[in-house]
Amino acid sequence: MAESPYPELKKSHVPERVGRPWTDHKPPPSAPVWAVIGGLGSFYVLVAALEMEVFDALANRGAIPGIPPDVTAPELAKEMGVSAPHLEALLDSLAVLGLLERVGGRYGLNDTAARYLTSDGAASMASLVPVAPGPLENWSHLAETIRAGRPADPIDDDPAGFYRPLVEGTFTTMLRAATRADLQVRYSAMTAPRVLDLGAGGAPWAIAVLKACPNATAVINDIGGVIEVAQRHTAEHGVADRCEFRPGDFHTIDIEPESYDIAVLGHVCRTEGTEGAQRIIIRTHEALRPEGRLLLADYFVAPEPQWSPHSALMGMTMMASTTNGFPITAAQTADWLQEAGFEHLRLIEPIGHQFAYVATKPRS
Ligand SMILES: C[S@@+](CC[C@H](N)C(=O)[O-])C[C@H]1O[C@@H](n2cnc3c(N)ncnc32)[C@H](O)[C@@H]1O
Repeated sequence: MAESPYPELKKSHVPERVGRPWTDHKPPPSAPVWAVIGGLGSFYVLVAALEMEVFDALANRGAIPGIPPDVTAPELAKEMGVSAPHLEALLDSLAVLGLLERVGGRYGLNDTAARYLTSDGAASMASLVPVAPGPLENWSHLAETIRAGRPADPIDDDPAGFYRPLVEGTFTTMLRAATRADLQVRYSAMTAPRVLDLGAGGAPWAIAVLKACPNATAVINDIGGVIEVAQRHTAEHGVADRCEFRPGDFHTIDIEPESYDIAVLGHVCRTEGTEGAQRIIIRTHEALRPEGRLLLADYFVAPEPQWSPHSALMGMTMMASTTNGFPITAAQTADWLQEAGFEHLRLIEPIGHQFAYVATKPRS
């Protein structure tokens, strides 16, 4: 037989050699496993880039998404005063992850980076990224958490320390979701709605309604140490004078019955466990006037979790770090709402990945 002009791949395993019958079975690719392994490194690549303000440095050089990138790694490293080969490896990793533009060794922002990763991007997630997974140590102890049924170091021991940076980080995204929700909820058509926002964080939902309705007023609740974030954001948006701040545990603070037109539970049920979530939903039902509406935003897991991967993993994030937190399903939440007496349930997705149930308290 003539020599093959090409180096041939190993042939020793082929059926003719090993004597097994031919089969078209191929081992599955290991790509999903490598994707998971790479997840950790990818996270830290992005965290490092944000910490070093790489995206802001590119934006400040006038990099415009869509315009060919204009700076090399050594040039940028010199400006930033960092190691050029190290920065180049970081920039290349960002390009691989789809978070930077790279053409012929020159780098620039792409649309994703400009919108989400610069600190003043239109939908900046720059401060959210590092805190989004919760305390990182808790992920290293996940197996132990699952064995024991609770994390060794739950954030419940220092809720303000955990939630303050988190709600600062999520504010921009949640305000966009809350503002866009008006297209489906039409709260802007109400004359002077009274809003109850429990576990409000930076109060994105209350702020969206107050900005859309000049005569709206709001009672805003969160725990001490976090409610200050709501005070600052409402002031920055020019609506603080129409807000009453009611610090404390939303399970026990005083809430006037039948006094509100809109109640909000924004991403609080997922950390409460079934009993806590049901209790807080019942509280909102009691607080609403007949025909008042509850907006319950969360990451709801679909009947098959694979259909809602983001929700399933966001639920895991809570389970990794809180005593009662679990992924909650859309069906379970609908049951809680109906058992509390709500009807006309609607599930909306005001922006990608952000879902909310809209549920109405019946007239009688
Ligand atoms: C994930 S954040 C959501 C913040 C905001 N509602 C949003 O949608 O962006 C959950 C909030 O609930 C607050 N929270 C948790 N337990 C609480 C409790 N028992 N009483 C009052 N607030 C609570 C936290 O401090 C935090 O601000």
